[in-house]
Amino acid sequence: MKTIGIIGAGQMGSGIAHVCALSGYDVFMHDIDETAIENGMATISGNMARQVGSERITRDERHDALNRLRATPKVEDLVKCDMVIEAATENEKVKQAIYKTVCPHLNADAILATNTSSISITRLAAVTDRPERFLGVHFMNPVPVMQLVELVRGIATDDATFQTARAFCDKLGKEVSVSEDFPAFIVNRVLIPMINEAIYVLYEGVGTVAGIDKAMKLGANHPMGPLALADFIGLDTCLAIMQTLHDGLADTKYRPCPLLVKYVEAGWLGRKAGKGFYDYAGEEPVPTR
Ligand SMILES: NC(=O)c1ccc[n+]([C@@H]2O[C@H](COP(=O)([O-])OP(=O)(O)OC[C@H]3O[C@@H](n4cnc5c(N)ncnc54)[C@H](O)[C@@H]3O)[C@@H](O)[C@H]2O)c1
Repeated sequence: MKTIGIIGAGQMGSGIAHVCALSGYDVFMHDIDETAIENGMATISGNMARQVGSERITRDERHDALNRLRATPKVEDLVKCDMVIEAATENEKVKQAIYKTVCPHLNADAILATNTSSISITRLAAVTDRPERFLGVHFMNPVPVMQLVELVRGIATDDATFQTARAFCDKLGKEVSVSEDFPAFIVNRVLIPMINEAIYVLYEGVGTVAGIDKAMKLGANHPMGPLALADFIGLDTCLAIMQTLHDGLADTKYRPCPLLVKYVEAGWLGRKAGKGFYDYAGEEPVPTR
């Protein structure tokens, strides 16, 4: 594989494009929102500059990687890709619509992968023209820093596709964990209900934002409190994952906290919106409760 396409230039898409370009792949990054593309490219350039500053990569490596990276508002450009990774908004209808639009433009042999955090790989594969060459390649946030990728086969994914994806992860220097195709896979099945519970603890007045995060950092040795982490992931993504767990496993223990719903309805989506459980307008994040 030489050329990777990325659909969605948000937090995850830009992170995946970053690591692919640094690993020597040519990359096309596509988004329907031109501002998202501009922001994504600026983020990649800035994050690579930070990596140069901390001597994790050289100036030349950054220069070469940025030269391998192209942004495109046109899906037609994805025809050149050997593998396309969809990292658009966590919404099944949005993802299905993307596959319907994109599949006719892909090379017949190309692998189509999704970075979904929770949605059934089998169900997403079913709307594509290539369920045997479709799988879940689930990166963690922030992609350049986090070691793990979860690989998830749909019912129809063939072995060659799975092995190609595994070799791709090896080339990126990532560790792989294999998950069966159940709602939210492994990491988010455990992590997001914990975050949802922390939001219930806030909602019920058991603790404040700062108090809950301090308690879990110092009491459970988590590197980041659950509410700061929720803001980092994006509250819309956290809510979408809880809804998928609730719908897919039909167990009331997965019901999304009403306070999480309210924050999302307000557009307080966390860091990417400038406000969530913390306000990010100033130098230091300030708790909103
Ligand atoms: N945020 C996380 O911590 C995290 C971690 C792992 C996986 N994921 C998954 O990655 C995916 C993206 O999440 P994110 O955090 O980057 O979200 P984001 O909101 O930062 O970015 C989503 C991007 O998708 C674009 N988009 C929406 N519809 C599109 C379309 N029809 N065509 C092309 N682009 C479109 C949006 O313009 C936006 O730029 C989701 O499936 C999410 O579950 C997120």
